[in-house]
Amino acid sequence: MEHVEKTINEKIQGKALVTEHKKENTKKLFIESYGCQMNMNDSEIVAAILDKEGYNTTQILEEADLVLVNTCSIREKAETSVRKRLQKYNRVKQESNKKMKVGVLGCMAERLKEKFLEEEKIVDLVVGPDAYKDLPNLLADVYEGRDAVNVILSKEETYGDIAPVRLNSNGVSAFVSITRGCDNMCTFCVVPFTRGRERSRDPKSILEEIQSMVDKNFKEITLLGQNVDSFLWYGGGLKKDFKKASEIAQATAVDFAQLLDMCATRFPKTRFRFSTSNPQDMSLDVIHTMAKHKNICKYIHLPVQSGSNAMLKAMNRQHTREEYMELVDNIFKIIPEMSLSQDMIVGFCGETEQDHKDTLDLMEHVKYDFGFMFAYSERPGTLAGKKMEDDVPFATKKRRLQEVIDLQQKHALYRTQQHLHKVEEVLIEGTSKKNPNEWKGRNTQNTVIVFPKEHYKLGDFVNVRVEDCTSATLKGTAVGYSDNN
Ligand code: SAH
Ligand code: F3S
Repeated sequence: MEHVEKTINEKIQGKALVTEHKKENTKKLFIESYGCQMNMNDSEIVAAILDKEGYNTTQILEEADLVLVNTCSIREKAETSVRKRLQKYNRVKQESNKKMKVGVLGCMAERLKEKFLEEEKIVDLVVGPDAYKDLPNLLADVYEGRDAVNVILSKEETYGDIAPVRLNSNGVSAFVSITRGCDNMCTFCVVPFTRGRERSRDPKSILEEIQSMVDKNFKEITLLGQNVDSFLWYGGGLKKDFKKASEIAQATAVDFAQLLDMCATRFPKTRFRFSTSNPQDMSLDVIHTMAKHKNICKYIHLPVQSGSNAMLKAMNRQHTREEYMELVDNIFKIIPEMSLSQDMIVGFCGETEQDHKDTLDLMEHVKYDFGFMFAYSERPGTLAGKKMEDDVPFATKKRRLQEVIDLQQKHALYRTQQHLHKVEEVLIEGTSKKNPNEWKGRNTQNTVIVFPKEHYKLGDFVNVRVEDCTSATLKGTAVGYSDNN
């Protein structure tokens, strides 16, 4: 299970996030982020807010004036990791950095609220995901010796007016948030409680942020939201209040397919990705928009969670396995080269051996390129946590998880093999971890490709001939620049 929990979190875990320093800033901020990409992007927003308060980022815990940890509540293990980090901060504070203040941001802050201050004595500050603009006031409270907590969830806050400070950036790819919160109420999921109701960001401010990234030479933008396909801008306000909006507001509303079209048309040289898509909100308009634009990457993260209708119902997912498979078939009909990935939960309440087999069967039908697979972890406050019994034994969860992982591995290899001997456009994103003489990048399907550096540079679009593969990586040789440079 260890291995799988890591897939989604590892990239950004336990690593201090840093950016360029400003001479006039005198205080030092150590900020780290756990969990999803949205948290990573939120940390960039927090860094931008604190930059104006005189904080530069640092990677050295011992010299930090302020330590912030952006937390994740999605599974119990994510919370345990954060608690362990807090112990580490405590040791540093006692041993070498008495003046250091510690704040908790994100989903655990929202879930535990004031209780955090009692449970973890090291914590001075608790700030929920919609309250980051209040950080300057909250810090003033802390420095005046008062506890500081703000966990108010908002109907409006999208941080649309804040230009994030890019942390640990490769200068090539960046995230732009387009929606916040989630209205779906999947019974296992804590997100609707920690991130509040769903609201969309003004397309104008999204396009402005992308323009500023393009001006700085960024080449790839990932549009982020808990459920991007549900994006709907009608002048502001919660998604659930859309029907109460004026007729004009409804008639001129912008949906996700239109937003994608706007982005891809306005910035034809920029690659676009998006995450996450919920099958129930994915429209074929989005797929047609993807087909229309070469610069929208042919990859969809389309979590299904289970292949069993009984489980989908218990999870309150708003579709059946048949509807999901029909959607997948339609996607492949419109874009045959599309790459798909899943999130899967094994061992949800009441899951039988037949339910599990249905999951394996659905995977066989789709043959996902990638997957993020988890054993069910009961979360306090969710409907499943309150009303359903977490009755699948740990050993069974573990065995089923392994079966799902093994099958995914087989499908991943099947998918990478389909790229062999093709020439594919790759955006160079950095040096390969294994070999300093090789570049690492991704093709449109999001598959990682490594190839000899030769004269190519970071941020170049290069055509690469694929010569070899594992289930996770393609290996190749560049044959020239692509026409996108
Ligand atoms: N829409 C979100 C989903 C966030 S949660 C997004 O932007 O990705 C990411 C994944 O974690 C879910 O798709 C689900 O597979 C898994 N997950 C959520 N709650 C879980 C729980 N209680 N136990 C195990 N896995 C869970
Ligand atoms: Fe969670 Fe379901 Fe929303 S998994 S984030 S409640 S779509």
